[in-house]
Amino acid sequence: MRIDIITVLPELLESPLNHSILKRAQEKRLAEIHIHNLRDFSEDRHRRVDDYQFSKGAGMVMAVQPIEKAIETLRKERDYDEIIFTTPDGKLYDQKEANTLSLKKNIIILCGHYKGIDQRVRDLFITKEISIGDYVLTGGELAAAVIADSVVRLIPGVLSDETSALTDSFQDNLLSPPVYTRPAEYRGLKVPEILLSGNDKLIDEWKHNQSVERTKKLRPDLYKKYLGEK
Ligand code: ADE
Repeated sequence: MRIDIITVLPELLESPLNHSILKRAQEKRLAEIHIHNLRDFSEDRHRRVDDYQFSKGAGMVMAVQPIEKAIETLRKERDYDEIIFTTPDGKLYDQKEANTLSLKKNIIILCGHYKGIDQRVRDLFITKEISIGDYVLTGGELAAAVIADSVVRLIPGVLSDETSALTDSFQDNLLSPPVYTRPAEYRGLKVPEILLSGNDKLIDEWKHNQSVERTKKLRPDLYKKYLGEK
């Protein structure tokens, strides 16, 4: 899979996408992540990518020209399955969307910034608008990092069997059960007896029940989905 990210702040993305599991995924050639500086596509003398908005609204708006050039430059090289725009007014991101995106071959993520983006970019180029939550970030870069991270870890071979994404919270609309490591007792709090029993079948049952109970208590919205899909 290949992810191209277009941004005015490449520095913000380089660190989160080039460490640990994402770094290894790229070294193993299971994923390619390319970060492009939008300013490199500006035809303005000062490499500007934004402009004042028509009407009296405050704040700068990302202009069409550099974005069109960036997208067209990438499209000349290959076809893209999705051109995603990160924005707080997009569709709320969830595990289902991450699963869907992980099956694509090439995607572009355009990071929103400033007061917004010229509506014609959205009309002409964008195939999906994504928000990572009902709050406003200073820009779409962290959202793009969240999307890239959650998608790349789902690509077969990226995670080891041990950490397989199939057992993630949310994959079946259930939160994960509690986990423990040594020591077996800490400050008077004991690891549940069942986990020390060695009986895999009973342990699996216990874990599943814990997942269901936790979901019911902490995320009644997810629990409803779980009951609906059972
Ligand atoms: N840009 C600013 N806030 C955002 C959010 N919540 N999700 C995606 N992109 C954003």
